[in-house]
Amino acid sequence: MSVRAWDGTTYDRISQTMEALGLEVLARLELEGGETVLDAGCGSGRITQALAERLPRGHVIALDESASMVDAARERLAGLVDDGKVEIRRGDLLELELPEPIDAILSTATFHWIADHERLFARLHTALRPGGRLVAQCGGEGNIDVLRSKAAAVLAHEPYARHFADWHAPWNYAAPEATRERLLAAGFATAECWLTPAPREPEQPREFLATIVLGPQVQQLPEALREPFMDEVLAALGDPVVVDYVRLNIEAVA
Ligand SMILES: C[S@@+](CC[C@H](N)C(=O)[O-])C[C@H]1O[C@@H](n2cnc3c(N)ncnc32)[C@H](O)[C@@H]1O
Repeated sequence: MSVRAWDGTTYDRISQTMEALGLEVLARLELEGGETVLDAGCGSGRITQALAERLPRGHVIALDESASMVDAARERLAGLVDDGKVEIRRGDLLELELPEPIDAILSTATFHWIADHERLFARLHTALRPGGRLVAQCGGEGNIDVLRSKAAAVLAHEPYARHFADWHAPWNYAAPEATRERLLAAGFATAECWLTPAPREPEQPREFLATIVLGPQVQQLPEALREPFMDEVLAALGDPVVVDYVRLNIEAVA
């Protein structure tokens, strides 16, 4: 189960930065055009749409557990759904079960929101046919260290600190070596994993941080403290706001 809530409409409107990162990952997935591909954690469907364009004779299964994201994806992808090109499902990747083995899995900006990578990779492996490919990217070891430490410094003092007494950081920024071992243990025949620093300056920094990157912290605060918290974080980050992304890239063959 997810450890945070998503607002699909806002995400769809302001996720250009995530889309640009995701399109680079999609470019790494070699396709002939007739495959069935799972978009694992499809969000509002921006990358799903680009994936479907690469599959003129193929099919996309777009899966996400957030009702709000699935609603946004249904709106964005309505035409593709009507054509039978894209099938949207709401569900947890940790419980993934597909009726037929599929050719490939694409996943962008999702795996770091899932704590149990052993189980995740086992479910993904089971969904793929032998020789099927997993191409993915998520936050990796060191991801947004600077941004998180500046936010943590703000949250360490009142009036915020009392709301974080029992808070556990929800993300799982895994290292490449450990991820490779987990993929092989889950049954993948080959696995390559590596980190890429990818600092970005989002176009609407306040909304981008509050909705996406610092969403878990913002959601932990009562409504009245959210804007003051964002004011302090933005002041600490200075101008321009740089999100110090470090992405974990995955390429594996089942
Ligand atoms: C940052 S969004 C990424 C969306 C899209 N792939 C992109 O690149 O813009 C992360 C998505 O992962 C989904 N997610 C997180 N944990 C999940 C799980 N266990 N099963 C299915 N979806 C999950 C969230 O609901 C959210 O839509």
